[in-house]
Amino acid sequence: MSNFKWWQTAVFYQIYPRSFADGNGDGIGDFKGITEKLDYLSSLGVDALWLSPHFPSPNWDCGYDISDYCNVAAEYGTMQDFNHFLFEAHKRNMRVILDLVLNHTSDEHAWFKESKSSHDNPKADWYVWADTPPNNWQSCFDGDAWTYVPERNQYYYHYFMKQQPDLNWHNPEVKQAMWDAARFWLDLGVDGFRLDAIGTIYEDPKLTPHNVPMNLAELRRFSELAKTPKEIKLKDKYWYDMFKNQWGQPAVHDLMKELRAILDEYDGDRVLIGEDDNISFMGNGADELHLVFNFPLMRADRLTPDHVRKNQKERLAQLDALKKERGWGCNTLGNHDSSRLYTRYGNKLHDTELARLHAALVLTLKGTPFLYNGEEIGMTDYMLTDISQVKDTMGSWYYHAIVTEMGVHPEEAMLRTAEMTRDKNRTPMQWSNNPNGGFSPPLATPWLPVNPNYKNGINVLDLEKNPSSLLNYYKHLLHVRRSSVALQTGEYIPLQTTAKEYLAFVRQAAEQTVLVILNFSEHPLEMDFTRSKEIKKRNLHLLFSSAERRGGELTSPFKIAPYEVFIAKVIHE
Ligand code: NOJ
Repeated sequence: MSNFKWWQTAVFYQIYPRSFADGNGDGIGDFKGITEKLDYLSSLGVDALWLSPHFPSPNWDCGYDISDYCNVAAEYGTMQDFNHFLFEAHKRNMRVILDLVLNHTSDEHAWFKESKSSHDNPKADWYVWADTPPNNWQSCFDGDAWTYVPERNQYYYHYFMKQQPDLNWHNPEVKQAMWDAARFWLDLGVDGFRLDAIGTIYEDPKLTPHNVPMNLAELRRFSELAKTPKEIKLKDKYWYDMFKNQWGQPAVHDLMKELRAILDEYDGDRVLIGEDDNISFMGNGADELHLVFNFPLMRADRLTPDHVRKNQKERLAQLDALKKERGWGCNTLGNHDSSRLYTRYGNKLHDTELARLHAALVLTLKGTPFLYNGEEIGMTDYMLTDISQVKDTMGSWYYHAIVTEMGVHPEEAMLRTAEMTRDKNRTPMQWSNNPNGGFSPPLATPWLPVNPNYKNGINVLDLEKNPSSLLNYYKHLLHVRRSSVALQTGEYIPLQTTAKEYLAFVRQAAEQTVLVILNFSEHPLEMDFTRSKEIKKRNLHLLFSSAERRGGELTSPFKIAPYEVFIAKVIHE
């Protein structure tokens, strides 16, 4: 166990600061609110917190457009509030990682303001400038990727919104400035960074145009209307082709090495986690990132045993193949960019059972789990109904594009926007049955509407009181995981690999072997483990079952209940 780093055994919990807890009653989450909830997080049983950006920002992209890398957004508090929060989190043995956005800044950052002011200012080359748009590249958020600036009579490049100009990472001064910002937070004691959109840092130096016969808005609309397998295949190809020259450049590796070297200067095993699923960003296993997300696991409309097995087989083989040190996985089923797991993987009939099953999946697979705030209480996507409510600029841009350029009826456009905007999965955390779900005081107006289902028991306070609630289920599972060396560190050995309806695997550490069975079906199932060498003729000690079960005896046949989560320690005789 001692050979494992804290970030390998930890469970991370993502806090979306704007939506977590409003401590000063202005309708916006803040550090006061987060700090007040640390006891809740500690009792939940998570070990580390990832904060989405908390820096000053004009909020065109909800904080991912940073205007000062070494400060706290006034609406979230002060540096003092941040330091107090960090101190209190560490006091409770919780680590804290921040979101570091390297690819772009806000267009209101002083660097960009200076850069755009003339051709010959000291920061003239800090962003990516061109006299005329050199190609037809698109921004993945709002249309053309080149935006005109009259002061310079030039265009700048932005992979994301036009309010998020891309930095020119070929300029050593940019690197220096950003590494200084990283050090600023490391010096304060943060435990690492989640690195935003690293794949997009460099572009194809030849500036090769894309060859998709439509622009971004048209492609989004085309994708919504694609129904046949042929159309779906084509839209996937178009998405890839449209952006393939704007990301994935090999130069990112050297950059990650530089950043890793900085982190390694610090004590405490600070961690770097890439917002990318490409394992090559882990370098040789010791010289680039510590973790990248296993996004392919969540890229499915429905999670099936086959999908999970295939995913684990591929990922774990790639991680094992790193040249110097074995890589470590990082599993998640939700974040601030994706539909909430309760909604996305639900089937409308057994949503709660499925949510429980999927939580168990992410908490028992090999690798570091990341949870997204609110999933532990079963928060669902909330569909906005009026364009004036939409805060995610990507959503409002799309609404206006399809209404004005494509003549889509506003009602239909709003339905589509509600589906595609990330606002649906960023609504305020539901703490209680009080007005505003206890997120903000009753008279405040939260920045996004609170999902009214907080009144129907989907809130922390009500769920805490109910021993069989989803929240208490998470707590129980997190406790089981924390107490099991095999679940935290053991190898993953799949069993019965052709089973269509259930997933069975063993997690094996030197000190302990644990059997996990997850029934993905609505039926009771029977199975037989007498031929599985990892567990045959051994006794089981039940650690956890979501069904009513007393002992963990390994009967033959072995029966499990619909959607049952069964976790047991294998007793070596
Ligand atoms: C990825 C972040 O997760 C997303 O929320 C953001 O909009 C983009 N990167 C741009 O920073």
